[in-house]
Order: sequence, then C-alpha cells, then structure tokens
Amino acid sequence: LRFDLAQFELAAAMLPQLPPSSDAEIVFSGRSNVGKSSLINKLCNRKALARVSNTPGKTATINFYQLPGAHLVDLPGYGYAKVSQGEKRRWANLIEGYFESGRRIALVIQLIDMRHPPTADDLGMLQYLAHSDFRFIVALTKSDKLKPMQRKKRMEEIEQELSMIEGVAYVPFSSLNGEGAAEVRDWISKAVEE
Ligand code: GTP
Ligand code: MG
Repeated sequence: LRFDLAQFELAAAMLPQLPPSSDAEIVFSGRSNVGKSSLINKLCNRKALARVSNTPGKTATINFYQLPGAHLVDLPGYGYAKVSQGEKRRWANLIEGYFESGRRIALVIQLIDMRHPPTADDLGMLQYLAHSDFRFIVALTKSDKLKPMQRKKRMEEIEQELSMIEGVAYVPFSSLNGEGAAEVRDWISKAVEE
C-alpha cells in the first residue's frame, strides 16, 4: 500500500455524511489523546496529515484519508471527560453507527496507552470488537515514554489486563521514534489484500 500517497478526503460529523463504502477501510479507534492522529501521520510519514493536539477531544468528526485502494478512518476519541453529555452521546452514536452500517472494514486498530491500564471504555471497545466479526489488532501507544524496566513490567501487566481477548496481536508503537510503524503497515497491507 502506498501510505505516502495518503490524502485527506473528508470529515463526517453525522452518519449521513459518511462517504459511500467502496475501498477497504482501516479504522483507528481509542480514547481521546491516545495518539490516533499521530499514528496515522507516522504511518504516512507526514507531519500534519491528521491534526494532532495537546487538547484532548481534537478529532470530533470521523476523518477519512484516501490511499490508492484503501481508506484510513480516524474515529473521534472517546472517554474525554470535559465535553458535554450531549456531545458524548453524539460521538458514541457516530462511532456505533459507523461500525454498524455494513461498510468494508478490513481491520480495526485499537489504540491503548501503553503506560496505563485500559480504561473501562477501552475494555468495552475491546469486548465489542472481540464479539464482532471485525479483524483487529492493538497498538500500544507512547512506548517511547517507558524505560526498559517499566516497559517489561507493563507488557506483563497488559497480558493480564487484556486476557479476556485471546490471540490478539499487540504492537508497541511510538509516533516519536517510529517503533511499530513498519509492523502496523504490514498488518494493514495484509488486511487490505485479503
Ligand atoms: P483525539 O483526536 O483527541 O481523539 O486524540 P488522538 O488520539 O488523535 O491523539 P493525538 O495524536 O492528537 O495525540 C495526543 C497527544 O499525544 C499529542 O500531544 C501527541 O504529540 C502525543 N503523542 C501521540 N503519540 C505519541 C507517542 O507515541 N509518543 C509520545 N511521546 N507522545 C505522543
Ligand atoms: Mg485525533
């Protein structure tokens, strides 16, 4: 897949704005601020394809990026405390609606901050994916922030924390130093080809 040719396609704030489902879609899901937009930029070797911000809740729409033969889909981050109930409801409906609308979803990349135990929302999302027919992998983000000993400890803990989803692949990932980027690109290419 030509990640270097990625282009912004559109931002959908409501379900009717979703583009027609055509090429395979690769979906990036995770809580607000976990690093979804940064991961997309890293995969595509671009600084500002997807907007990154220190302010959580930046991506409030479903953002589509077009590659030849595939779309990358940046979901709004869930779990951000400081947005209104109404806005949270809107995001939840948008995300649920997206997954349930029968699109060609080839792979879901669920992002979890490697430093912390998964949140209740993360676990809910993982349960949902495990019970769905979607193929998915877990990207453990911000791996650069852990020292070797902490990292070893977290890897062991994560295995326990995510033990209810069997056989899923975990990829430590850093948008800072590029760890895991090649592996995630491989998962995506494989999923799109099949
Ligand atoms: P929303 O759009 O709010 O859902 O957030 P997001 O998941 O798209 O996160 P985003 O990529 O905007 O990153 C949030 C913050 O984390 C930014 O300050 C990034 O620079 C930082 N960040 C993301 N990935 C990494 C990483 O791998 N390592 C480090 N050190 N910082 C990261
Ligand atoms: Mg984002």
